[in-house]
Amino acid sequence: MVQEATKPAAPPNTVTLTIDEREITVPKGTLLVEAAKSAGIDIPVFCYEPRLAPVGACRMCLVEIEKMPRLQTACTTPVADGMIVRTNAEKSRAAQSDVLGMLLANHPLDCPVCDKGGECPLQDTTFNYGPGISKFIEPKRTFPKPIPLSPLIALDRERCIMCYRCVRFQREIPGDEALTVIDRGSHSEIAVTEGRDFDSPFSGNTIELCPVGALTSIPFRFRARPWDLTKVPSVCDKCSVGCNLNVEYRNNAVLRLTAHPNPPVDDGWLCDHGRFTYDYVNDKNRIDRPLIRRNGQLVPATWDEALDLAAQRFRDTADRAGNDAVGGVISARATNEELYLFGKLFRGALGSQAVDHYPRTGSAIGPFGVDALHGSIEALERMGTIVLLGVDPLKEQPVLNLRLRKAAKNGARLVVVSPEANDLDPVAAHALRVPHAALPTLAATWANLIVTEGLHDAEFIGGRTAGLDRARATLVDFTVERAASVIGLSAELIAAVGRALAAQGPSALLFRRELSGTIDHAQWFAALNDLSLLIGATKEDGVFGGLVTQNNSQGAIDLGIAPEGDASPFGGKAPSALYLLGVDPLGDGRAEALDGVDFLVVQELFLTDTARRADVVFPAVSWAEKEGTYTNLERRVQRIRPAVRPPGEARPDWRVIRDLGKRLAPNGFAFTSPTAVWQELAAAVPAYGQLSYGALGRGGQQWALPHIGDGNGGGRFTFRSGDLEGGAGR
Ligand code: SF4
Ligand code: SF4
Ligand code: FES
Repeated sequence: MVQEATKPAAPPNTVTLTIDEREITVPKGTLLVEAAKSAGIDIPVFCYEPRLAPVGACRMCLVEIEKMPRLQTACTTPVADGMIVRTNAEKSRAAQSDVLGMLLANHPLDCPVCDKGGECPLQDTTFNYGPGISKFIEPKRTFPKPIPLSPLIALDRERCIMCYRCVRFQREIPGDEALTVIDRGSHSEIAVTEGRDFDSPFSGNTIELCPVGALTSIPFRFRARPWDLTKVPSVCDKCSVGCNLNVEYRNNAVLRLTAHPNPPVDDGWLCDHGRFTYDYVNDKNRIDRPLIRRNGQLVPATWDEALDLAAQRFRDTADRAGNDAVGGVISARATNEELYLFGKLFRGALGSQAVDHYPRTGSAIGPFGVDALHGSIEALERMGTIVLLGVDPLKEQPVLNLRLRKAAKNGARLVVVSPEANDLDPVAAHALRVPHAALPTLAATWANLIVTEGLHDAEFIGGRTAGLDRARATLVDFTVERAASVIGLSAELIAAVGRALAAQGPSALLFRRELSGTIDHAQWFAALNDLSLLIGATKEDGVFGGLVTQNNSQGAIDLGIAPEGDASPFGGKAPSALYLLGVDPLGDGRAEALDGVDFLVVQELFLTDTARRADVVFPAVSWAEKEGTYTNLERRVQRIRPAVRPPGEARPDWRVIRDLGKRLAPNGFAFTSPTAVWQELAAAVPAYGQLSYGALGRGGQQWALPHIGDGNGGGRFTFRSGDLEGGAGR
């Protein structure tokens, strides 16, 4: 007897429906358009964008649903069990074609001169779903050709199809009312809100979101057609978020940067600073050959002359004045491979400890015993509570700011504590104005309040931590009344916010590493450590860490590019011979850093004030010209790739360091590529050794923190306030 196969039951919280004769099971609440996409069925859309709330404005996605009298918009209709949907039946196709016909009635036949031509969803959708010929012979609506919405973005109103993506993006993602719709019906127009400028730091995203050529990039307009550009996926180097982007170039010139979505990092967004800062790569004034000082003047030299001179003087100085008399400072924007080689050059080839990165990241070792963020950027979306102490992500990590707004929208209680108004204040449950100097007191006060009132998770604290009693004794004097008198906020408010932090649910604590003013940083980190344990930010589902600022500050920390003892080339006694890579102390108002320097080597893109003072100048290469890896603020190591060739005789920075190394040490610098440097680096740094090099180029990989159970104190995390000398009242 043949048994009929029984269908496996659908997983809970799913819905099974049929689209174009195909049975599909998707999570409850999925929109039809997404359900179809998951099965490879394309439904044409214009106004729908998965990262924005659906509005059903354009009617492009009309589909037929059995038992429903009229066609429905797939972008606003959630799936239902047993639903039978046809996206390509005669009625749906006719409706899609009619919508396109209406959109094209007023759309100019601009494609040959439109910047969007070749990558235009309206062009592509018309080709796939459109009527072929127009029914309309009437004159089209016309407007004067593009008006600037800002110095970066032009609006061509004739081309606009009123999908509202631009307005919705600004309102929903950065929370900005700069764009609006004026007039009604067929006279509607996108415009800048009266009395406002379109100066959003995220405005460039609207260019990519616009499904037609209505919003175009002023720096890019008419510079190239999309099909003439070559795209190289890479990573932005302008801050520590590490957003992914495409470097698009033609004739060896970078012409634009576009998003290359890596959702866990950037959600597909770029900030304008990252998107539009590339002209310097193409600048004709870049240094394009080595220079050496002769008779008081910097004059062109061969690579061998410049490298020989630098190596000889470094060696002579070390022999004459000691190894630490030769120092080096490398930009925190350099790749991991460059940082590693730089460290090896000084520590290995020259035996000098005077090596540092700039700007230097203050150390912030957490309860895990390592200086890195616990958790991830993406995990912030799932937090119940997020505490921000002294940080200003909009200014320093812009796309992280968007993630924090998203977290607030998902229901996270944001507690923003900063000395000045913060962009996140309007979405915060509590926004407190507290000067940097008072932050350690506030953190210690909240820790004391939570432990005194027993608001912490006793099971976690009892089972996974050590030293609470000692810490409690140290914290006992940090009362809310005392904090109120120091900070100038009411004791009731301080207590209410402190209690809110202890609410159960995943928690995040993000803090500024270096506070301005006279701060006891030991107390600051001890209080942060203890507060993070008490609010659960160090649990598996929490997030805890001090935000770094530069694109590879974390790499410099991981690779130990910082001096031991007081050998710092900056801030301490300046070395006699100094090598600066991508660092300009004169331009940064730190002239004293060069006091006492007899021999200066500078590797730079441009002849900066510091480079003009140098004895040897090496041309540096930009991030768009190099290969290597960066480590972002969440420990994610990502690969960058070269798009364009550097100017003139400029060579990759790693090669210059290697060639100096070869001149100073008989062995150890025989690398033939950045990948070869990575292999040695990964063998030397255990956390990096766990990473797969292939994965670094496909969205990157976070290096693993020590297992959460391996915290100090015999597998437990240790409360730190009890370690402070002098105890409370410090
Ligand atoms: S300008 Fe572009 S994004 Fe904005 S409404 Fe018009 S078509 Fe849509
Ligand atoms: S947030 Fe940072 S990494 Fe991302 S685009 Fe802006 S500057 Fe670049
Ligand atoms: S895409 Fe569905 S209505 Fe616009």
